[in-house]
Amino acid sequence: MDVKILKSSFAVAERRAEHTVKFFYAHLFRHHPALRELFPVEDEDMQRQRDRLFAALTRIVGRLHDDGLLPYLHDLGRDHRKYRVAPEHYAAVGTSLRAALAAACGASWTPATEKAWAEAYQVVADAMTDGAARSQDPPWWDAEVVRHLTYGPDTGVLTLLPDAPLPYVPGQYVSVSSDLVPRVWRPYSLGNAPRPDRTVDLHVSRIDGGRLSTALVRRTAPGDRLRLGAPGGRAVLRREGRPISFVAAGTGWAPVRAMLEDLAERPPDAEVRLFVVARDAAHFYDRPVIEALAAGPVRPSVTYITPAPGRHRNQATERLATALGNRGRWPDQDVHLSGPAPFVEEIAHLVRELGADPARVFHDALPYGAGTAGRPRPLGPGEWFLDPPAPHWHDPAARM
Ligand SMILES: Cc1cc2nc3c(=O)[nH]c(=O)nc-3n(C[C@H](O)[C@H](O)[C@H](O)COP(=O)(O)OP(=O)(O)OC[C@H]3O[C@@H](n4cnc5c(N)ncnc54)[C@H](O)[C@@H]3O)c2cc1C
Ligand code: HEM
Repeated sequence: MDVKILKSSFAVAERRAEHTVKFFYAHLFRHHPALRELFPVEDEDMQRQRDRLFAALTRIVGRLHDDGLLPYLHDLGRDHRKYRVAPEHYAAVGTSLRAALAAACGASWTPATEKAWAEAYQVVADAMTDGAARSQDPPWWDAEVVRHLTYGPDTGVLTLLPDAPLPYVPGQYVSVSSDLVPRVWRPYSLGNAPRPDRTVDLHVSRIDGGRLSTALVRRTAPGDRLRLGAPGGRAVLRREGRPISFVAAGTGWAPVRAMLEDLAERPPDAEVRLFVVARDAAHFYDRPVIEALAAGPVRPSVTYITPAPGRHRNQATERLATALGNRGRWPDQDVHLSGPAPFVEEIAHLVRELGADPARVFHDALPYGAGTAGRPRPLGPGEWFLDPPAPHWHDPAARM
């Protein structure tokens, strides 16, 4: 496989990202109109989301010699079944990908370039279809909402009963989809250790203008059905006898609760510290559970952090920084961070400065620019591998 040709043609297409991605989807949907039905309903945000597929396609092809690629592609193929992607769709996407790249490269697109991309894409598509075919998991898990609690206007805890057992490790998340927002999937952490009745909790914080979070918090009720993708995520307990510091903000508490419940089953010898951050005291929505866990066998020390009265919620992060700085022994700790991406990025940086071992700081993948202004969408389960992040393929201001 000619990696040099792949990279140089990709570099040209990347400079014309906006055109290339539009061409790709226009080509795909013109030649295979039925495939349009697999993607969410069109609007600005959906366009941006769709661009991820294209960005991933091109990025992955540039990393074909990476050791981690094959297991990643197996999982990605397995997970694509929830989008109702079938093996025969891969050829269509490959053809449109090459057509889009050829259009972007113009005269520099040669038969050798065409051959290199066809081969590379085939390797990726084969690995994904192989992963899908070999998976013992269902394409998705149907689940019934059996309880829906709300805490204020913007926080909901949904308890779901999946029709079939959902095997997962505390600290992991699942993609969730609701018929209220067709074909939109978003990741949510699982908020409890596995229970005998196999119910799982999702803690959902409503984002202003957010499609699925609003539907889940405000328009979902017991008896409704949701769909769950395969559990994913690597920010799980290591259980290597080291002391653990958990730092959770907002509904970032969900995976921490799952891990603490798990620790309670087999309490560690080492110390456990818990820092819980909220925009005000009323937002410690799960406080009774935190108190119960604090009194249980793990005995974590608990520090609650809010901004000072009347101060902006960002001040909570400053107060947290002070609290973390006052607590020592960071080089020994396993540190688990969970919450909004900009928060996690900032605290990850801070604990490293305090001496934590970067290899022992665990959190889910962060989107590009998490620590900067703006509201970057978190990375989906299939995107953790795309580091460095994909370029911003969709610029709403650009014109064809
Ligand atoms: C691994 C992982 C685990 C997650 N776990 C949880 C969880 O347990 N509970 C939970 O409530 N959420 C969680 N999220 C976030 C969740 O997946 C969604 O991003 C969030 O609910 C918004 O989705 P939406 O469809 O409502 O908003 P969208 O319609 O996708 O977005 C509307 C607007 O808000 C922006 N936006 C999207 N998401 C965010 C965000 N999180 N912060 C700020 N701006 C955003 C978008 O860029 C867009 O402009 C998790 C994300 C990841 C990657
Ligand atoms: C062979 C190479 C392919 C790669 C590398 C790839 C990669 C990706 C990635 C990384 C995502 C984002 C997933 C996430 O957030 O979890 C995605 C989403 C998606 N992919 Fe693929 N994909 C491929 C093929 C296909 C094919 C053949 C189809 C069928 C038409 C398809 C349909 C979709 C759909 C519908 C989504 C969801 C889009 C959305 O939510 O807006 N993909 N893909």
